[in-house]
Amino acid sequence: MTTVVAIDGPAASGKSTTAKLVAQRLGFVHLDTGAMYRAVTLACLEYQLPAQETPQMAELLASLAIQFKSVGGEEQRTILNGQDVTDRIRSPEVTGQVSRYSALAMIREHLADMQRKMGAELNVVCEGRDIGTRVFPGARFKFYLVADQEVRAKRRYDELRSLGRKASLKRIARELQHRDLEDSTREHSPLRRADDALIVDTTNLTIREQVDLIVARVEAGLRSGD
Ligand code: DC
Repeated sequence: MTTVVAIDGPAASGKSTTAKLVAQRLGFVHLDTGAMYRAVTLACLEYQLPAQETPQMAELLASLAIQFKSVGGEEQRTILNGQDVTDRIRSPEVTGQVSRYSALAMIREHLADMQRKMGAELNVVCEGRDIGTRVFPGARFKFYLVADQEVRAKRRYDELRSLGRKASLKRIARELQHRDLEDSTREHSPLRRADDALIVDTTNLTIREQVDLIVARVEAGLRSGD
């Protein structure tokens, strides 16, 4: 049996960085489900498919292969039908539309199936919004990351600036608020903490501290066979 570590939480709560480092420390695969929703959104925008459950959308979904490739043991790239889309899925266009596409049951069910297949074959650290509640409700380890909204906005701002991109703190805070609202109020598998997930408030934690905390929990659980 494989081991699944589920990490959920709102946008910019530190999930991706944490999940990546936790996966490296444990020797697990990092399954970034947000990148999968972004890749599907990019494909829909390219084919000019509106956010509606149509036969064309079903056809497109069936034609998409999404893979994660590690480069130099460090960075993970997202590959969509053989093309590296890592940078394009972070564009403002995709970020602005992804909540609308990820609200569709057709897309969610398709991607959740893909995620379950990956988790059945490999030990994974799987991060997203519905991992502990819907995709892997039986996951052995579940964490829910939270952080004050101001801190999250500042983190996203610093991240964009470090990539050399222009950014406005006010605008980022507004967008985060909007995305939190859309992700947590949608009808299908909204962002929600699983009852058995451990809440990790990262507002005053460094990345190192939050990674240590999660790794320690998982290692202790694996040792004791809980
Ligand atoms: O984690 P992220 O910002 O890359 O996620 C992008 C969007 O994808 C987010 O606004 C909500 C959606 N998402 C989702 O609905 N379910 C997941 N398991 C992961 C992401």
